[in-house]
Amino acid sequence: MKVLHVAGARPNFMKVAPVLRALDARGVDNVLVHTGQHYDRTMSDAFFDDLGLPVPDVHLEVGSGTHAQQTARIMERIEPVLENERPDLTVVVGDVNSTIAAALVCAKLGLPVAHVEAGLRSFDRSMPEEINRILTDQLSDLLFTTSPEAEGNLVHEGIDRERIHFVGNPMIDSLDRHLPKARASTVLERLGLTADAFALVTLHRPSNVDEPETLRGILEALRDVASEVPVLFPAHPRTVKMMRAHDLDALVDVDGGVGKPGAIAVVEPVGYVDFLRLMADARGVLTDSGGIQEETTILGTPCITIRWNTERPITVEMGTNRLVGTDPAAIRSAALEVLRAQRPEPKRPPLWDGKAGERIAEVIVSR
Ligand code: UD1
Ligand code: UDP
Repeated sequence: MKVLHVAGARPNFMKVAPVLRALDARGVDNVLVHTGQHYDRTMSDAFFDDLGLPVPDVHLEVGSGTHAQQTARIMERIEPVLENERPDLTVVVGDVNSTIAAALVCAKLGLPVAHVEAGLRSFDRSMPEEINRILTDQLSDLLFTTSPEAEGNLVHEGIDRERIHFVGNPMIDSLDRHLPKARASTVLERLGLTADAFALVTLHRPSNVDEPETLRGILEALRDVASEVPVLFPAHPRTVKMMRAHDLDALVDVDGGVGKPGAIAVVEPVGYVDFLRLMADARGVLTDSGGIQEETTILGTPCITIRWNTERPITVEMGTNRLVGTDPAAIRSAALEVLRAQRPEPKRPPLWDGKAGERIAEVIVSR
């Protein structure tokens, strides 16, 4: 049996790794395709090293572009690969442009496709990922869900229950596997940070960083947080580009300042294992990331989500996540409250038990 796996962007790699490993253990012939949507070492290769992923069999090197350019380039370049490999199944993960591009080509070629992390919905179609999620789910033959509400979302969109499998969260498989290594990471010492005495920030959603006034407001709120506790901000390249383009650099500390009172220390994106340690030991995380809402739930680190909605409501219902929107005053007051409160208990939503990859592999092989 041959399974082709598609990965392209940072949040894909930690979801692909457990599925690939579980299928490998069952003797499946795996082919790994990297679309090249993310290509900086800090956004891609660093994750292959940390997660022990094999070198991709095929690299499409599509790089950046508009949504149409990037999606079209992936489609054009993956089509001959799929025709040549004729996999029994193609597995796509998450909600990035690589996900929908590969799924659409499979569907047109009549090749079966499985979607890992199906059925998540923010119900906000201005979010590029929401379009990718809805369309990928419509095209998929097998839909693997991470959260109980996902099945209802899918059934509501006319998807047959028989194709849906609630398997748990492969992102948490990777977290569980790499947490012992993360606990031994020296990243705090290297950066001069003290456990439980810093805030960790990530921002990259277009709705937050592409509009200069929204980004300015968020950064100003973060400055107030930084007056209470050092802020570490491993910045996504999109965000760095936008801060530069709109002269917002003055609001942050681009050259050093890590651990210093009052500083928002902007550093390059951090590797996976070091980032797990940072999340585990932060007093609180402020983010617009999807995956980080899930990881902080398991780690018991308070998460303030700088968005108006989430496709991962279970992290709010069961976990440590709180949606605060993008209003600077709301970000400020939620952050200060969290910094002064006791640390919450870690929570495990159903089937976030480190075995999702195994369940996915079982379903695939038994088919
Ligand atoms: C993409 C995903 C988003 C995901 C995020 C994770 C889509 C539609 N978006 O957004 O869902 O949450 O990845 O990180 O697929 N860039 C670099 N180096 C890189 C990659 C990107 O400099 O290695 C810069 C380029 O200027 C590029 C910009 O970042 O134009 C945005 O990259 P892109 O892949 O288009 O979207 P992301 O914002 O990364
Ligand atoms: N991550 C990381 N280093 C960073 C920022 C994020 O290792 O500097 C990891 C994070 O722990 C999670 C994944 O990247 O596993 C989330 O990716 P991202 O926030 O880019 O995308 P999203 O989940 O929003 O699609």
